[in-house]
Amino acid sequence: MADLRFTPLATSVVAAFLLSLSLFPQAADATLGVNWGTMTYHRLPPKTVARLLKDNKITKVKLFDADPYAMDTLAGTGIEVMVAVNNLLLFPMNDYATAKAWVAANITQYRTQSPEVNIKYVAVGNEPFLQEYDGRFTNVTFPALKNIQRALDEAGLGDEVKATVPLNADIYYSPSFKPVPSAGKWRDDVADLMSDIVKFYNQTGAPFTVNIYPFFSLYINPNFPADFAFFDGKAAPLVDGDFSYTNVFDANYDTLLAALRSEDCGDVPIIVGEVGWPTDGDVHANPTIAGRFYAGLTRKMAKRSGTPQKPKQDIDVYLFGLFDEEAKSTLPGDFERSWGIFTTDGRAKFPIDLSGGGEAGKWPAEAVGVEYLETKWCVLDAEKATNESQVQESVDYACKNGADCAALGERASCAGVDTDTKASYAFNSYFQALGQASGSCDFGGLAKITPKNYTAGSCKFGIGIKPYVDGSLGAARGSVGDDDEVSYASATVAGLSQVLLAIFLMAVMGS
Ligand SMILES: *[C@@H]1O[C@H](CO)[C@@H](O)[C@H](O)[C@H]1NC(C)=O
Ligand SMILES: *[C@@H]1O[C@H](CO)[C@@H](O)[C@H](O)[C@H]1NC(C)=O
Ligand SMILES: *[C@@H]1O[C@H](CO)[C@@H](O)[C@H](O)[C@H]1NC(C)=O
Ligand SMILES: *[C@@H]1O[C@H](CO)[C@@H](O)[C@H](O)[C@H]1NC(C)=O
Ligand SMILES: *[C@@H]1O[C@H](CO)[C@@H](O)[C@H](O)[C@H]1NC(C)=O
Repeated sequence: MADLRFTPLATSVVAAFLLSLSLFPQAADATLGVNWGTMTYHRLPPKTVARLLKDNKITKVKLFDADPYAMDTLAGTGIEVMVAVNNLLLFPMNDYATAKAWVAANITQYRTQSPEVNIKYVAVGNEPFLQEYDGRFTNVTFPALKNIQRALDEAGLGDEVKATVPLNADIYYSPSFKPVPSAGKWRDDVADLMSDIVKFYNQTGAPFTVNIYPFFSLYINPNFPADFAFFDGKAAPLVDGDFSYTNVFDANYDTLLAALRSEDCGDVPIIVGEVGWPTDGDVHANPTIAGRFYAGLTRKMAKRSGTPQKPKQDIDVYLFGLFDEEAKSTLPGDFERSWGIFTTDGRAKFPIDLSGGGEAGKWPAEAVGVEYLETKWCVLDAEKATNESQVQESVDYACKNGADCAALGERASCAGVDTDTKASYAFNSYFQALGQASGSCDFGGLAKITPKNYTAGSCKFGIGIKPYVDGSLGAARGSVGDDDEVSYASATVAGLSQVLLAIFLMAVMGS
């Protein structure tokens, strides 16, 4: 038995081992968060989404509201959750009693129920200082932030749940006379306000949440050095004193860090609230390019390389996003509905290691047990389509009333197909959106139902999925078919356009 006794040597080995565990917790995989937006007509059942998250070892989820559907999904999963107050609620939250009631109903309740929702953050607004809003939310955001944090504190949750305002990276910049990260400063119109907000975070222990989109650098500026948007180290470096940058993500992050340090708030933790790449709607948006972006990003996270100004550390990121959202406005661009790592029906589009391990070429686990509508499509009956303007009118109708026609955009996945196939795409999208309801494949006799799959290359003709019916609300819910297809079982077209209007407004308001 003597062999099994701890000799001093064995003890010190064990001690060293234990010490190494506590000193280097980073031995585990980095953790990646995902944004889960639910602007979709039909949602996948909560169990399906919960399993998808679990199968992919996703440990953090950021939401855009405090929707009971998402809360049901996340309850009992242990996943860390950021819930949100949308921009339209910022003004009401300037009233403390309203903020208190919101926290009681949407935070305290879920934190104390069984099984609980592991809420860690409250996002107060979404990019409320975006320049496009013309100062609309400038005065109401900070009071709302303070009221929410105070309500959290008074509910006894202040140590565990922090309020933070997700901001677009347009909130800071480097002046043109010194265009390097270390010269980072706040945008002039909100500089004083930003100074107050970060000092508030410095006191409360809340993180600064910023959304960083290298895609937009490329989308907006055709002269942007493309490699700089990715993480392959192929770009000619931007040199900033002792530091050199080969990707815009790091440069952007360190610009924020400089702005924080200029306020003596350099230790305020940073959360990258959104970072991702769309797969349709632009020449720079397809699964291959998105895959390249995410491969680089996830490898970087796994290596814990940090940024030049804050090397060798974890960067807290939430990928944008989990699913495509075909009910979003395309006002920002045709890419706006295609930010999903997964299609609306939970199919993977490109390899990505969501577990944080940074494994190259690994495909994510897909949604299991998704139920589709019948395998049939609605297409243009070419024999009857003799009047071009009549066809065009029908296509316009379909696109305005439920079909997702973003894929038909100039730079999108169906741009290359002929006019008849484009019309078919719109008809089918409408048909699936209406849950293949009888009469939804007619278009004045121009359309016909077919068992033939019209998918042509990247232009995918989907089949809708069966709606998930949420018993508590009694409304038809669920999600979609392949790619941009939508399914809609019980809703009327009138109901649909209301949904569309509400969603459009929400999108414009930045929710
Ligand atoms: C809780 O959040 C939901 C959804 O965001 C909102 O509709 C509801 O009014 C909130 N509850 C209270 C009491 O503010
Ligand atoms: C915000 O407050 C400033 C200063 O009180 C005021 O000049 C400005 O008009 C306000 N903006 C809005 C949109 O209410
Ligand atoms: C922020 O917090 C740190 C650490 O508590 C402190 O040293 C620093 O002075 C604070 N900054 C401001 C502007 O109060
Ligand atoms: C073609 O359709 C348009 C729009 O429905 C209609 O106004 C026009 O009369 C039609 N032309 C012919 C030749 O039928
Ligand atoms: C339609 O064809 C495409 C391309 O071959 C395929 O990926 C898709 O699964 C097919 N859809 C159905 C419902 O069979």
